[in-house]
Amino acid sequence: MKKIIDLRVTLSERVGAQCVLLKAKPVEGRLPECKPGQFAQLRVDNPETFLRRPISIHDVEGDEISFLVQEVGKGTSWLCSLKEGDLLNAVLPLGNGFTLPCAKSTCPSLLIGGGVGVAPLLFLGKRLREQGVKPTFLLGARSKAQLIRLDAFREIGDVFVTTEDGSEGERGFVTQHSLFTSHSSPLSFIYTCGPMPMMRAVAKLARERGIECELSLENRMACGVGACLCCVEELADGHNHCVCTEGPVFDARKIIDN
Ligand SMILES: Cc1cc2nc3c(=O)[nH]c(=O)nc-3n(C[C@H](O)[C@H](O)[C@H](O)COP(=O)(O)OP(=O)(O)OC[C@H]3O[C@@H](n4cnc5c(N)ncnc54)[C@H](O)[C@@H]3O)c2cc1C
Ligand code: FES
Repeated sequence: MKKIIDLRVTLSERVGAQCVLLKAKPVEGRLPECKPGQFAQLRVDNPETFLRRPISIHDVEGDEISFLVQEVGKGTSWLCSLKEGDLLNAVLPLGNGFTLPCAKSTCPSLLIGGGVGVAPLLFLGKRLREQGVKPTFLLGARSKAQLIRLDAFREIGDVFVTTEDGSEGERGFVTQHSLFTSHSSPLSFIYTCGPMPMMRAVAKLARERGIECELSLENRMACGVGACLCCVEELADGHNHCVCTEGPVFDARKIIDN
């Protein structure tokens, strides 16, 4: 059940060129149960920034929650400036989350992340592993400097990398990786989060190969709870859907292919 909760920052660490890994624990009580793919609305205590900022749940270990924040503007810059011991107010967990196999499973799953879109995939990979699925990660970035937390991903599954400039892993986009040309074992599920063009390309590839696929949209949000409608996305059924409450995770077949 969602809660408004005060968290105390336990770690704030620079990772990669533009990101900060934030870990925090509730000041009082327990963390509510969170699912991979859900997000938090983090309050930015800066007079110039009125709205909370939506940030994916990167990991949960006991009562400690982690966020991976990329500094792109005033809100994320404030979040990235937090230090150990500071307070962080959060509304969480929000949104629906990824579909996990309902029983112990050995279905091969590929988790594809681009840029800071890798954030929700660590928590997802851990949960899949607990259910008997060894996750394989395919992580893409513009260059080596933008690859984030590869070691943490390597602790839970196999990790493949693409960079657009070839500075790490295979050169090109994630959909051009040799996994898709040489991988002999069939995939049963793809989960993806990252820039929209990347997710559309992944969704197309999954559709062509008959692989189930879910993607996590990162539309601009204001309220995060279905009240303002600023996050709506037109889906293939021709209707507008509220990403903060009906998503952010959607079946890839529902996304308009353009
Ligand atoms: C469900 C969800 C989960 C997210 N998870 C993460 C996460 O784990 N880590 C993370 O770093 N970011 C995440 N984001 C994106 C993050 O919310 C935005 O980057 C942030 O709100 C920008 O706030 P700002 O004040 O720093 O920048 P602003 O001043 O608001 O914007 C700065 C620049 O960033 C662009 N921008 C703002 N919001 C978004 C967005 N949603 N998508 C793409 N570009 C945007 C703007 O167009 C502008 O160019 C998530 C967004 C959503 C909706
Ligand atoms: S952000 Fe307000 S309805 Fe989704």
